[in-house]
Amino acid sequence: MRMGRSERESRTAGRVAALAASAALLLTGCIRQELPQAEETREDILVVGFSEVGAESDWRVANTESMRHTFTEEKGYELLFDDAKQKQGNQIKAIRNYILQEVDYIVFAPVVEDGWDEVLKEAKEAKVPVIVVDRMVQVEDESLFAAWVGSDFHQEGKVAVEWLERYLEEKGRSEEADVSILHVQGTIGSSAQIGRTEELVAGVAAHPNWRILDQVPGEFTQAKSYEVVAEVLERGEVPDVIYCENDVSALGALQALDEAGISHGVEGDVIVITFDAARAGLTACMDGQINLEVECNPLHGPRVEAIIRQLEAGETPEKYCYVEETYFEPGDLTEELIAAREY
Ligand code: AHR
Repeated sequence: MRMGRSERESRTAGRVAALAASAALLLTGCIRQELPQAEETREDILVVGFSEVGAESDWRVANTESMRHTFTEEKGYELLFDDAKQKQGNQIKAIRNYILQEVDYIVFAPVVEDGWDEVLKEAKEAKVPVIVVDRMVQVEDESLFAAWVGSDFHQEGKVAVEWLERYLEEKGRSEEADVSILHVQGTIGSSAQIGRTEELVAGVAAHPNWRILDQVPGEFTQAKSYEVVAEVLERGEVPDVIYCENDVSALGALQALDEAGISHGVEGDVIVITFDAARAGLTACMDGQINLEVECNPLHGPRVEAIIRQLEAGETPEKYCYVEETYFEPGDLTEELIAAREY
């Protein structure tokens, strides 16, 4: 049985003392992570309401799993989960429900950046701390959320653009030769789309011979990406590069290229760049079908938990915490390496 907010508040001092006594703290990046608590130091459960974007990609599924594996009953949590099916309206509804249910924390991965001020004000008035994960929010008052943790999507885009620059040079491509880029975009207005798009657009502006052949909406899904890439290829337009804003959209693009009989990857005509580095994408990269995989790490459960532990201990977590990421080319990958990864 869950307790009301006032009851929980009156117990906070006891809980904080217990945590302080038992917690062994690890410092990783900007988040302090605690070792698991001894059973007897827990005074009650923490209820966490999580609003997830959807299940559009394998990355997203790994993100959801990370939250489910972290916020378990054994560790003293009750996780309330809502799949927003990529709709902001569903997320706003879920957040309002969590407020009504008097959860201890609201965690949400916002589908897009804008449009959160109102509902986050309601959470603040109800004194429910909000943690934003994965994508960011743009709000007038940053005190509306306690902390954010996720990827630096601009940095990811920069890594991809700089890699393309080096790759073309290494291939001996003249600086005058036209480089046409088909850009498969993710959900418009999401941080992942904004960062990756803005860096590509800046890269094109910096290279007079690069041009965007077309910008098509892949919506971070394999099916939509397949559809929109196939349409471009049916028009007889074959790009030099396909820049896909996530793995599953790259897989959709590969399907369309294969059906059109157009070669791609290391030995092929079309250079394929993608983001996430989840297992299916990495395997296609190892096989030489994809040229570049820029990592985007979905394992945010433990990071969110570390923030909650800080808040429970009366500490102020860092407002923004960026996850460290890398990138992979086919030569970097082996079956063992892919199997050893968690997603
Ligand atoms: O916000 C992270 C992005 O969302 C991932 O790149 C993508 O796969 C997911 O759908």
